[in-house]
Amino acid sequence: MKGKFHIVCTMLLIGSMVFCGCSTKQTVRTDTLLTNWQFRQEVSEQMPDVDTTWHDVVIPHDWAISGPFDRKNDLQEVIVVQNGEKEPTWKTGRSGGLPWMGKGHYRTTVKVKKDKFYTLVFDGAMSHADVYVNGEEVVYWPYGYNTFDCYILPELIEQSAISDQDSEVTIDVYLENKPQQSRWYPGAGLYRNVHLVETDPIHIPTFGVLVRTPEAKKEQATVEIEVEVNDGVEKLKIKNYELKIETDLLYKGKVVATIEGPEGEAEVKEPKLWSPETPNLYIARTRVSKDGVVLDEKETRFGIRSISYTAEKGFQLNGETRKFKGVCLHHDLGPLGAAVHKDALKHQLTMLQKMGCDAIRTSHNMPDPQLVELCDEMGMMMMIEPFDVWNWGKTENDYSKEFNEWWRRDITNMVKHYRNHPCVMLWSSGNEVWNQVLPDGIEIVTQLQALFHELDPTRPVTNGMDQAMHVIHNGFGAAVELPGFNYRTSRYIEGYENLPQKMILGSETASTVSSRGVYKLPAELKDNAVYADYQSSGYDVEYCPWSGLPEQDFQLQDDYNWTLGQFVWTGFDYLGEPSPYDTDAWPSHSSYFGIIDLASLPKDRYWLYKSQWDKQGQTLHVLPHWNWNEGDTVPVFCYTSYASAELFVNGKSYGKLRHATKEETELMAKGLPVTGDGLRDANVSQMPKVGDFVPPVWGSAPRPELLPRYRLMWFDVPYEAGEIEVVAYDAEGKEAAREKIRTAGEPDHLEVVWANEDENPEELKYMTVSVVDKDGNLCPKADNLIVYEGEGFVAAANGDAACLDSFVEPQMHAFAGQCTFIIRKHSQGSFRMIN
Ligand code: GAL
Repeated sequence: MKGKFHIVCTMLLIGSMVFCGCSTKQTVRTDTLLTNWQFRQEVSEQMPDVDTTWHDVVIPHDWAISGPFDRKNDLQEVIVVQNGEKEPTWKTGRSGGLPWMGKGHYRTTVKVKKDKFYTLVFDGAMSHADVYVNGEEVVYWPYGYNTFDCYILPELIEQSAISDQDSEVTIDVYLENKPQQSRWYPGAGLYRNVHLVETDPIHIPTFGVLVRTPEAKKEQATVEIEVEVNDGVEKLKIKNYELKIETDLLYKGKVVATIEGPEGEAEVKEPKLWSPETPNLYIARTRVSKDGVVLDEKETRFGIRSISYTAEKGFQLNGETRKFKGVCLHHDLGPLGAAVHKDALKHQLTMLQKMGCDAIRTSHNMPDPQLVELCDEMGMMMMIEPFDVWNWGKTENDYSKEFNEWWRRDITNMVKHYRNHPCVMLWSSGNEVWNQVLPDGIEIVTQLQALFHELDPTRPVTNGMDQAMHVIHNGFGAAVELPGFNYRTSRYIEGYENLPQKMILGSETASTVSSRGVYKLPAELKDNAVYADYQSSGYDVEYCPWSGLPEQDFQLQDDYNWTLGQFVWTGFDYLGEPSPYDTDAWPSHSSYFGIIDLASLPKDRYWLYKSQWDKQGQTLHVLPHWNWNEGDTVPVFCYTSYASAELFVNGKSYGKLRHATKEETELMAKGLPVTGDGLRDANVSQMPKVGDFVPPVWGSAPRPELLPRYRLMWFDVPYEAGEIEVVAYDAEGKEAAREKIRTAGEPDHLEVVWANEDENPEELKYMTVSVVDKDGNLCPKADNLIVYEGEGFVAAANGDAACLDSFVEPQMHAFAGQCTFIIRKHSQGSFRMIN
């Protein structure tokens, strides 16, 4: 044991007060979050100069997010094969430019009762967690994203008695992040919750209840239950112990059916089905008793819904075909780093839902359990994906080093953890694994799928394949249960025609790059465009050699009934992977792919997706800002769900445009002339030109002719200060909405909006701070320093991927006129603009 620890941990009780049928109430299970720990870093080869003194910390905790940013933190000379590189290049900011490598040590002491049984559950620990209780190793778990548990054995409790009834045990967690362990920001430390679960020695283990709904129709559903019970560490032969096991199924607190025994089923009449539109949830309350005494009671939330995937009908939820309108998400939460917070997750989901998004892919690792719970509650579908690699690595010390030894345990914990959740629609066995083109690929994917199905026969398993040109013909694509294509939009038809499943999921799409509020003239389609300001154009016309624009995926989803929907890369920007500024382009250190930036502020693309996905609401959005130089020629784009719109500059009409039809874009693709009302005479001028860079043939190159189908674009608008306005018309040609942008004057004051107010957050307020002129117009180029003076500051960000302002200081430069401060809910303070 290293050092003596004095603080007895403060604990947060999160639930499960439970009672037996008799008159005295008795708590048979408690789940307590262990929040207060001591932490210190340890010297390692990569981090020889760290501060090794103990500090008090509250977990979830990410030791690296406070920085400082440094090019040296993750400088690598490597070949990034998946980006098509053949020679090594210097990569900067690839994993966020933050000091996440090295060793960390957490310690806490907890009081426990000698007659109880204890399980420690780690929702995730980054990484290579070695857990000790009273100096004895109890579990080792290398993969930082997975949930794992361990017991505190009675002998360890006995050892550290402080009275006849109680003991005090010390828990030590040693973590190590290795260099080149990740190709994005992984975070560092106990970044997710740690639970201390107190039960009787005879208890239901962590993943001990399985709930399935093999039949789920409007009139009736069948609910199946399987319960495991352990005696201490051993799985019990329940009959020999004469245990009684009962599970009540409850809807809104009312018992609707009861299942007797460790396995059984019940019928539920007229069930309230789960869907994104109706996220109805049931509870299975399982009781274990002996001789009339309740030994354990555990609640498992579930939903009743049916899913199917067939070539004839595609993906069906409750018998209705739908396509995933999804986004991929990395796990970091911008300026909060990897340290998970429910309010932050809820804010992400709320913003995505308002855009019309109905699904997320946890790429490329296991989610935090709170995210899955929120998806159940809020009606967001999920595709859960554990791995970015199998046994062939992408970076030197990634999970490929553990895969052979650990994949069974990692998949088992993940599937058992999340299989009861109705929001989970499918699993993915991996992302762009090299094995898709290696001789062992088919064998591995088959083994993985078999394990997924042994644990969960109800959901299919996809795989995010980026080597479409190979997997369509080498047998790998045929072996994947539900083929998922990453990019490669021009290979979809070939895939459909050649693969036996006759369905294709857009497991990862677009990877368009843009910076919020920064527009590059002229608006041209460009591959890998880089500029002196380290930004990408906000016109949503830039991409990477392997990627494309949203329109290609809209078209595939709209025109072919064998496509199952898509997951856009990415919903939110994330730390690391700053393509196209990843090669010796410090200070860029976070992504440009997000539809929403790192400060949780939407980029223009948000409204492009909303115009296609949000069928409840209407969208009308105009870009760019209107602060240019006299003489500039400025394209104006409009993202709208309305039939047509007209552009006015200072009251002068620049014409009415409508979206091109499918047939018209097909003619344009062939270079044939298209004339038609509302398309203006110059079809060609409706298509952005392709910039000078000739993209390599990856099979994802954008198709310029598709843009007029989904955006209205007025090129060649002469700039004159004043205002631009778009007037939208409905299908009958009646005016339906207006949207305008004015030329802003000098920065005058700040406007502060509480962005997540209607989400009723428990603790964190997201405050959007905008620099405006004297009339309240956003100053689109303002970069003033904004300072928060007051209590409760948590973090700040501005969405500029090249800004090195610390996330944890109460000041931040505005970027394109805006930034976000995260503040504790009931604290007082004010914002001040400097210079
Ligand atoms: C994909 C990959 C993602 C991310 C993305 C960037 O190929 O699966 O993890 O790297 O490219 O465009």
